[in-house]
Amino acid sequence: MQELMRKFAEWPGGMILDVATGHGGFIPHLREFFPGYRFIVGVDISSRAIDDVHRMYAATNKIEFAMMDAGELALKRDSIETAAITNSLHHLRDADLALQEMKRVLRPGGLFLIFEMFKDGQNEMQNSHVRIHHWWAEIDRLNGYLHNETFTKRQIIKIAERIGLRKLEYIELSDPEPVNQAVVDRIQSTCDDYLAKIDGRPGCEQLRQRGIILKQRIDETGFAWAKSLCAAGYK
Ligand SMILES: C[S@@+](CC[C@H](N)C(=O)[O-])C[C@H]1O[C@@H](n2cnc3c(N)ncnc32)[C@H](O)[C@@H]1O
Repeated sequence: MQELMRKFAEWPGGMILDVATGHGGFIPHLREFFPGYRFIVGVDISSRAIDDVHRMYAATNKIEFAMMDAGELALKRDSIETAAITNSLHHLRDADLALQEMKRVLRPGGLFLIFEMFKDGQNEMQNSHVRIHHWWAEIDRLNGYLHNETFTKRQIIKIAERIGLRKLEYIELSDPEPVNQAVVDRIQSTCDDYLAKIDGRPGCEQLRQRGIILKQRIDETGFAWAKSLCAAGYK
């Protein structure tokens, strides 16, 4: 992240759009990258996520949230200075459409940012993250939520190239060290929640076994956050 801080040091941020903001997990980073920003708008298709994140940021100035489909942003053309999307491309029905919408609302010269975890070229501890994430995604799909496996790095680059940005460049983000025990406990507890989602469900025995093996893998192999790619370019 230090490299990114240096890279964005001169960019004022201005009006920032965080697409598929979820519970606003990336907003602290956006505020850190662009301390002089004018306003942040976080949008998400889930009304529940928007209600939650609204409450979480109720006491924060210069930030607003709205329910919106990334494929049909209710925002004016050329109205945003910085448009970002983080770890959400693999959640979208039509990533190209969403990215073109982000480009439409971005002003000419505006900064476009994609951050996305990828599945290839990881060390064994990072592979724990990739495999657990794919297991969670499979259970989400069973429950009717759009959650695909993560892309390869090459696939993310291809998607970013199709947007048609100027000065597009890529920065790989990697922290190969194991996460601390508090994070391990949180991941294990999320795995337990996912096991509960398929508990007693017919046809899910293999999926359940995979979850148990993955939980053991966290203890035996360790867990580190998977590498992700930042694609940064200008409209
Ligand atoms: C992994 S979560 C969000 C991650 C968040 N950006 C972060 O970094 O913490 C993916 C989000 O994509 C949202 N999403 C899926 N399809 C969407 C769409 N068409 N428009 C807007 N948001 C969408 C989901 O509701 C979910 O909150």
